[in-house]
Amino acid sequence: MRAGLEHCLNIDDLRRLAKRRLPQAVFDYLDGAAGDEVTLRRNHDDFNDYEFLPHSLVDVADVALQTRVLNTDIALPVMMAPTGMSRLFHHQGEIAVARAAHRAGTIYSLSSMATYSIEELAAQTSGPVCFQIYVWRERELVEKFIQRCKEAGYTSLCLTVDFATAGQRERDLRNGFTVPPRIGPRNIVDALRCPHWLWHLLTTPKMALANIREHADVSEALFSVIQYTRSQFDPSLTWDDVRWMQAQWQGPFAIKGILNPDDARRAVASGIKTIIVSNHGGRQLDHAATPIGILPEIVAAVGNKAEVILDGGIRRGTDVVKALCLGARAVMIGRAYLYGLGAGGEQGVDRALAILKQEIKQALMLLGCRSVQALDQRYIRRRQGNCRLAS
Ligand code: FNR
Repeated sequence: MRAGLEHCLNIDDLRRLAKRRLPQAVFDYLDGAAGDEVTLRRNHDDFNDYEFLPHSLVDVADVALQTRVLNTDIALPVMMAPTGMSRLFHHQGEIAVARAAHRAGTIYSLSSMATYSIEELAAQTSGPVCFQIYVWRERELVEKFIQRCKEAGYTSLCLTVDFATAGQRERDLRNGFTVPPRIGPRNIVDALRCPHWLWHLLTTPKMALANIREHADVSEALFSVIQYTRSQFDPSLTWDDVRWMQAQWQGPFAIKGILNPDDARRAVASGIKTIIVSNHGGRQLDHAATPIGILPEIVAAVGNKAEVILDGGIRRGTDVVKALCLGARAVMIGRAYLYGLGAGGEQGVDRALAILKQEIKQALMLLGCRSVQALDQRYIRRRQGNCRLAS
C-alpha cells in the first residue's frame, strides 16, 4: 500500500497505515481483544449475515443523515465510543478525536481512563461530550467525576457495565504491555521503526491517567492496564448503583455493555433511556454474543421505551445502515477512529469519519431511502443461505 492518508479509501486501509506507524505492542493494544479473539472477528463478520433489499425509483437526490441521540442532534448516526489512553496512538490523543468529532457534528465520549482530563478536554472543544464512567472501589472518586462533568458542561454520562474484571488480552500479556510503553532491549528496534511516534513519546509530558492524577500512585509509574483495572475497579456494582448514579447526574444517561434482553428490560425499568448494545469490542468476554447478532432481540425487548445504540464491529457505512435497519438509533465506533488516529492524528480521525459518512450516504442512495431515520426492516433480511440454481 502507498503511504499517506489520501490513499486510504476505507477503514481497513487506515488500519494498515496505523499498523505501520505504531510500535507493534501499541498497535496490538488497539487492535487486539480477549482470549482467542473469536468475538472480535464475529463482531464484524456477523454483519455479513444480513443483505439489503433496495427499493428502486425513489428520489434520492437529497438524503438526510442527521438524527438525535442522548438529547443531542447529531449530523450523522455515528458517535465516538470511549477509548482509554488515546495518547498511546498519537500525542494529541483524546483532544484530536474530540475536535474531529465536533467538526463532523457528532458526540465524543471521553473515557475515565483518558490521558487528558475532563477539564483539559472541555477547554479544547465546544462540541457535545459524553463522559464514560467506570466504577472505582473508591466511590468518592465517582462522585467527584460526576460533579466535575457537571461543572465542565458535559452533555451526557455513560456507565460501562461489562468490566467486572479485565478480559484476558493475551497480545498485551505477551508483549508485557505497560502505560506509558516501556522502551527496552526487547522492543527498541521496533520503536525506532516509528521515529515520529518515539519523538513525541520522549518529548511530551509523561502519559498518565489524567482524571485520577491526584489519587493514583500509578500516575507516576508504569502500569499494566489489566492489573490496574483488576485491582481498582469495583466488581460489586449492581442496579442499585445505576439508580444512585442517575440520581446524582440527572441528565442524559446511557448504559454501555448490554447484551442480554432481560438486562435491557431491567434497564428500562430503572428509567434508562439509552442502551448501548456492546461487548466492549470483544475485549472482555470472548464468545459473548455480537452486537449486530443480538440487536433485534434487544430492540424488541425495549420497544419504544429507550433508544438503542449499537457498538462494535463497525468498519463500513453499510454496517451502520444495517444496524439502523434493525432498530438502532445510531452506532458507536472505537477502533475505526483509533486506526485513523494512529495513521494520521486529527486528520486521520477526520478521514475515518469522512469515509464512513460517504459510505453511509452512498448506501442510502443505492438502497432507495431518503433518510437514516426512515431505515427499517423493509430494507434488510437475514441471508437465506447459499442458493444454487439447479441445472
Ligand atoms: C476500548 N473500549 C473502551 N470502552 C469503555 O467503555 N471504556 C474504555 O476506556 C475503553 N477503552 C478502549 C480502548 C481501546 C484501545 C479500544 C479498542 C476499545 C471499548 C470501546 O468503547 C468500544 O466498545 C469498542 O471499541 C467497540 O468496538 P469496535 O468499534 O472497536 O469494533
